[in-house]
Amino acid sequence: MKTKYWPEKGSGLNYEALREASGILRRGGVVAFPTETVYGLGADGLSPRAVRMIYEAKGRPADNPLILHLAGPEQLEWVAADVSARTRLLVRTFWPGPLTLVLPKTDRVPSEVTAGLDTVAVRMPDHPLALALISETGTPLAAPSANRSGYPSPTTAAHVLHDLDGRVHGVLDGGPCRIGLESTILDLTREVPMILRPGAVTREALEQALGAAVAQDPGLDGYLRREGAGTPRAPGLKYQHYAPEAKVCLLSGTSEELAGYVRERMRDADFLRENAPVGLLLTAETEQALRKTQGDLNLGYVRVLGSRGRLPEIGERLYDELRRCDLEGVRTVFAEAYPARGVGAALMNRLTKASGQAPVELKKS
Ligand code: TXA
Ligand code: MG
Repeated sequence: MKTKYWPEKGSGLNYEALREASGILRRGGVVAFPTETVYGLGADGLSPRAVRMIYEAKGRPADNPLILHLAGPEQLEWVAADVSARTRLLVRTFWPGPLTLVLPKTDRVPSEVTAGLDTVAVRMPDHPLALALISETGTPLAAPSANRSGYPSPTTAAHVLHDLDGRVHGVLDGGPCRIGLESTILDLTREVPMILRPGAVTREALEQALGAAVAQDPGLDGYLRREGAGTPRAPGLKYQHYAPEAKVCLLSGTSEELAGYVRERMRDADFLRENAPVGLLLTAETEQALRKTQGDLNLGYVRVLGSRGRLPEIGERLYDELRRCDLEGVRTVFAEAYPARGVGAALMNRLTKASGQAPVELKKS
């Protein structure tokens, strides 16, 4: 199929593009659109046939349910049964925004969306194009991230086209996504709400809003392969995710420890024979420590993601930089680990899944 591309329009909305895109969606097609987190691949969330096309376009396993995107809290009653005071409080506090709520579903929601579960995941995205598209289409949009299944989520329209050109009906370009990591998923069907996927709405922020404890799925916890960690409760999280073609190796330590480790590796001919070209995804602090003692060492493909003190900036760039490593033909990525607090929890969750193993803990010897 030919994929229609609607370029970004400076400021304001491109109404002609919106009308065309929502027309395609109403006729049962699939269109990628920007949200504040990552690009989504949307289809009419109340049409089983349209929803099946999403799975086909992405190569997504059929047992991995989708998030329904709403234009406003008033649409919640359509799709969620039993909207409690606790749910309303979270909606008031965090919507529109990167918080997905798992709630008991109504009969209107097709089982294709929920992969047969009796719960549904819903959110209201904080992006004018996304909201206008949902309103104009007049139905909640089912939308997973608009990437090829398993690959890092797309944070630009170019990422979407790289993965799905020719497999979807259209791509609405809204520029780079502001947050760059997928929404926090919170399961509200249990007495103590549980985070199934960490994101920009942090556990700390949720606990403060609720004035009560929030649990975190022990099957996530960053280090999925750790023994006894269990199976994650968001069905999709059991699959490989967020992983570039390159092998990702996570390094945990101070900037000086990381610099020392990388320097040693880049001098090791045996290591380089098996692993070069090497990509380095570093904080500004670590890059500085490395440059100080670099000498005439060739460090490979070095990218600075941001400062250790500003983790949201790192989240915004992470997927783009992982994808760039592949475009550059990098075979091994050394990526810096972060403290798993606040947004750091989301970063570490994605990075450990991209890497498939726990970080290498560096200690001064
Ligand atoms: O930020 C986001 O959430 C982006 C944008 C496009 O909104 N969407 C996104 O969708 O990341 P996706 O499909 O890539 O991830 C959705 C996750 C999957 O891990 C899925 O298993 C889980 O949500 N999920 C969906 N419905 C669920 C349910 N009823 N119960 C538990 N987990 C659910
Ligand atoms: Mg996804």
